[in-house]
Order: sequence, then C-alpha cells, then structure tokens
Amino acid sequence: MLGMNTPPRIIDVGCGEGLLASQLEDFEEYIGVDPDNSGIHTGNSALSAKVKFIRAGVENIPPSVSHADIIVSSLNLALWDDPIRRCIDLRKRLSLGGRILIIDLLRTGSRIEYAASNELNQFLIDQHNASLTPEDLKVLCRKALPGAEISTFTDNRETIVPTIDTASDYGNLFFINYQEA
Ligand SMILES: C[S@@+](CC[C@H](N)C(=O)[O-])C[C@H]1O[C@@H](n2cnc3c(N)ncnc32)[C@H](O)[C@@H]1O
Repeated sequence: MLGMNTPPRIIDVGCGEGLLASQLEDFEEYIGVDPDNSGIHTGNSALSAKVKFIRAGVENIPPSVSHADIIVSSLNLALWDDPIRRCIDLRKRLSLGGRILIIDLLRTGSRIEYAASNELNQFLIDQHNASLTPEDLKVLCRKALPGAEISTFTDNRETIVPTIDTASDYGNLFFINYQEA
C-alpha cells in the first residue's frame, strides 16, 4: 500500500461507519475515530480484531491512540473546528515517512444563500458552504502540510475525473497527499 513495505497502521478521522476498513486489503491496525453516536461501529466489529473504533472528534483524539503510517480523512475536514491546527496536530501522530491523505469537497462557486426544501438538500448546502475554497486549501497546505500534493477532481455525474476547469454542476473534490519527511 502506497509503497510501504509492511502493512500500515491507519487512523481514519471522521470514519462514519468505518466503510474504509472493509475495503482495505491489508493493514496492521485500523482505528476509526468519529464523534457521532449513531453511525460509528461500537468496537465489537466482525471485521477483525485489528479494527477499533473510538468515539472522538479530531479535536480530542485520546493520547492512547498511537502513531500511524497513514491518517486518512474523507469528507469531514470542513467540519473540523480549525483544520490548520488539527493538521499540525495530526502530523505529530505520524510515523516517519507516514502520510496524511485528505479528500473533501472543494468550493468553487460562491456560498449558497437560500434555504433548501428538504433535509438532504439542506445538508448538501451546508456542506458546500462549509467547504474549503481553492485559496483556503493552498493556505492550509502552506501552513500545516508543506510540500503536500494537491489534486482536484470533478464529478461530471457519470464519473469522477481530474479537474480541467473549476466549473461543475455536480461538484468538485480535492485530494491532499502529504508525506512526513
Ligand atoms: C460525510 S461523513 C463521512 C464519513 C466517511 N469518512 C466516509 O467518507 O464515508 C462525515 C463524518 O464526519 C464526522 N465528523 C463531524 N465532525 C467531526 C470532527 N470534528 N472530527 C472528526 N469527525 C467529524 C461525522 O460524525 C460523520 O461521521
């Protein structure tokens, strides 16, 4: 995995139901961290003894969670209290040569000002409004994850492709790939 010689130890921040654990082929340990009371697995997962879940936000991951080779965050960075501060904190949890991989929505348009007529649309509007702009993303990487590679992708409804321009009716995503020297 990612050129690593041994199966990695993984922390999945904002893991939700921990779906990632079921999709990984090989790892030494997977720790899913999420503050939510409902979706998260409760620790007696049938997946494997190597899988653990901890109820916590990125802001209060307990010190007992040890170092990781990969820290991943999918679709929750924009919900953190202070992404720059938390990325700096997460780096301290990385093993030498470890990686932080973050994927989230990229806000390319302006904030959406109207209220939605149903809960799902309201959720998507809230996500859009909370999401990072390309400028926010650059500042985050410069201050907290120097040297990170940033890729952007566009959802064109049929598939997700590398972004050619910033316009999309369906949404844009960014992917940060940071490696600790
Ligand atoms: C859209 S879901 C993404 C779940 C999963 N990572 C995925 O990609 O399917 C966002 C998750 O972020 C969690 N979350 C919200 N605030 C958080 C925080 N401050 N720190 C960590 N996770 C948070 C929510 O509880 C929710 O499970």
